Amino acid sequence: MLSSPIEVAQLPTPALVLDRPTMDANIGAMAKHLASHHKGFRPHAKTHKCPTIAKAQMAAGAVGICTAKVSEAAVMLNAGIASVLVTSPVSTRQKAQAVNAIASNEAELLLVVDSVVGLDALEAEIDANKTVGVVLDLDVVMGRTGLREDDVFLRLLDRIHEDPRFYFAGVQHYAGHIMHIPEFEKRREKSLRSWDRLATKFQLLEQRGVRADIVTGGGTGTYDIDVGIEHLTDLQVGSYIFMDEEYRQVGGADSDRFKGFDLALTVACTAISQPQPSAITVDGGYKAFASDSVNPVCDGLPELQFRFAGDEHGVLLRPEAADKPGDNQGLGVMLGDVLEFAVPHCDPTVNLHDQYWVREEDGMVHGYWPISARGCSW
Ligand SMILES: Cc1ncc(COP(=O)(O)O)c(C=O)c1O
Repeated sequence: MLSSPIEVAQLPTPALVLDRPTMDANIGAMAKHLASHHKGFRPHAKTHKCPTIAKAQMAAGAVGICTAKVSEAAVMLNAGIASVLVTSPVSTRQKAQAVNAIASNEAELLLVVDSVVGLDALEAEIDANKTVGVVLDLDVVMGRTGLREDDVFLRLLDRIHEDPRFYFAGVQHYAGHIMHIPEFEKRREKSLRSWDRLATKFQLLEQRGVRADIVTGGGTGTYDIDVGIEHLTDLQVGSYIFMDEEYRQVGGADSDRFKGFDLALTVACTAISQPQPSAITVDGGYKAFASDSVNPVCDGLPELQFRFAGDEHGVLLRPEAADKPGDNQGLGVMLGDVLEFAVPHCDPTVNLHDQYWVREEDGMVHGYWPISARGCSW
């Protein structure tokens, strides 16, 4: 908490600003949507890396929290989150040792495995008095993580059943390459086809008389598509909580903009220099915004173009002025102004900052929340 509320313009910039009422509305909208389709809500904490936010998601009815990595899971379990699923496969003895260190009987720990090597590592490192749930990760065409071969699937299944330290919790399928397909119909068709192609795996489970209590996957891009998949028990939605420019440019079911969730996360930057009249420099560059996708967009002045100008700086200009250097057009921004930018890609942007400055209903910043799992990338 701050001793007294302050304006965003008083923050030390660049500053990551979280609009709490908008975030709460996004959480509420997703929880309600999934509940209305009888699907579980297993939000991905790789997006926010913040136990305070994970607790808000649990309070809204989440069945558990996903993390991408074991180190993130450690932060969430330490904070008292009751169920954590690590969505990247464990494949080494070193990682399995870290899993053993955080596994306890006080919370549910679910781990994704997609290889015999991964299960070997867990078998070698997990203590006899501990139990972890194994979720088999399945791939279709993405080619990132997940197994494809039926015989590997069956071998892993058998070995999980033979070892009392493990139980088969279910399967995961995440088709990340589909999430940002701009046309809704194309996205829909590809996502449904991807799940369809897992049919043989479900048949194998049936033949063995094995139940998958958890069938988890999907993301923000398919939140209103994958709810129609019968087998799916819960969705691992991440970015919906903040929204980012990448998602805002993706089409919705009946519009060319993504609908249902609003922008809750911005980076506030100050205009600090103006070497030429047609452009103005702000104090946020590669160290304030992830730069793997689109550019930041100035909230309130979306017509201005943002160009990265190195690690610490960005330059704002009017597109027409960009063609005519020296064009003396009014930018509508003065030196010293603090501007807020929609972030290009939320997850890696969050990982660049130490805390969220939290703006409340009255428009004032009342405090900050540490991004405790920042840098937890192993
Ligand atoms: C395995 C997995 N599940 C879920 C998500 C969440 O996706 P989104 O942020 O698009 O909701 C991600 C994001 O990359 C992911 O890697």
